[in-house]
Amino acid sequence: MQKEQTKQLHTREDYPYGEIVQPLLLWYAKNKRDLPWRQSADPYRVWVSEIMLQQTRVEGAKEYYKRFLEKFPTVRDLAEAEEESLLKVWEGLGYYSRARNMQKAARQVCEEYGGQFPADKEKLRGLSGIGDYTAGAIASIAFYKRTPAVDGNVFRVLSRLTANPTDISLPAYKKYLEQKLQKIYPEEGVACADFTQALMELGALVCKPTSPACESCPLKDVCLAQKTSSQDSYPVLPKKKEKRVEQLYVFVILTGDKISLRKRTEGLLKGLYEFPTASKEKGKKELLAEWGITDYTQISSSSAVHIFTHVRWEMECVVIRTENSPFEQFSVAQIEGELSLPTAFSKAKEMAVKYV
Ligand code: ADE
Repeated sequence: MQKEQTKQLHTREDYPYGEIVQPLLLWYAKNKRDLPWRQSADPYRVWVSEIMLQQTRVEGAKEYYKRFLEKFPTVRDLAEAEEESLLKVWEGLGYYSRARNMQKAARQVCEEYGGQFPADKEKLRGLSGIGDYTAGAIASIAFYKRTPAVDGNVFRVLSRLTANPTDISLPAYKKYLEQKLQKIYPEEGVACADFTQALMELGALVCKPTSPACESCPLKDVCLAQKTSSQDSYPVLPKKKEKRVEQLYVFVILTGDKISLRKRTEGLLKGLYEFPTASKEKGKKELLAEWGITDYTQISSSSAVHIFTHVRWEMECVVIRTENSPFEQFSVAQIEGELSLPTAFSKAKEMAVKYV
């Protein structure tokens, strides 16, 4: 394997960063999308939206955001929620540790700060699941502080504007951009909220990853990538690692009108429900026998794939009927109404509902 080249920080000290502020704010005032989380500067709401938007696209997050706030309208409701009902609201969003960390943070806010989010970036950073980006976003969007929030959109916009070839996974590059932005933030006030979101919005609507709409960009006159037609060269992304492939049997075990599920005790999706799943290193019969299932009828089987950040699951979903399942059993109504089943098991769930 080739040795990875040491990543290097390239600085752009001569770039007129300050010139982007006014055109960007004017553009944002005219072009911002009407998104549900933009109707309130309540820090709880801003926080919920920012956590959801870390791994989920705006369109996908909208409905989840509304449902989440209907179910948990205040930070106290979230702090006191049953974990299972929290995971149910999160079902399908993935990265479930986000939801668990949110509940930890909600408890911290209640216990350490009397139920009010702190306005200070460093204190926000002390809450579970809140890193530089989220702390900067909440402090600026909800508390109107001069605090940058550098996410993927902002990396792309700034890397193109300054034609900076630094790999965005280099931590020093994020620090560098935060410092540059810190100097040009508007005075403390609502413009700080707008500036943070304007940078993200430009990345989402104009300075898109592919086919950026440079002709309608308010910053085209100060964009070095556009001047040299090298938009596609920025930002420089880290090399993608090959995903590990796991080949699995996913057993849909039916007994009467009940479906067997169990909680995962380790690894990916730990603590969440699954259809009993096992590596294909062993045979189907052998695996079932290990669970005491020797008397069964196979009804159907079908393949499915689910891609996680670092792993690709190649699954064979096998539907069987048996009288002696050792697992907890649930009705379709329970599975649909109460339990949180990760999206990886969509195919198996579909088959369970079909054959039960
Ligand atoms: N992505 C992350 N935060 C966002 C926000 N507040 N609005 C739109 N897109 C975002």
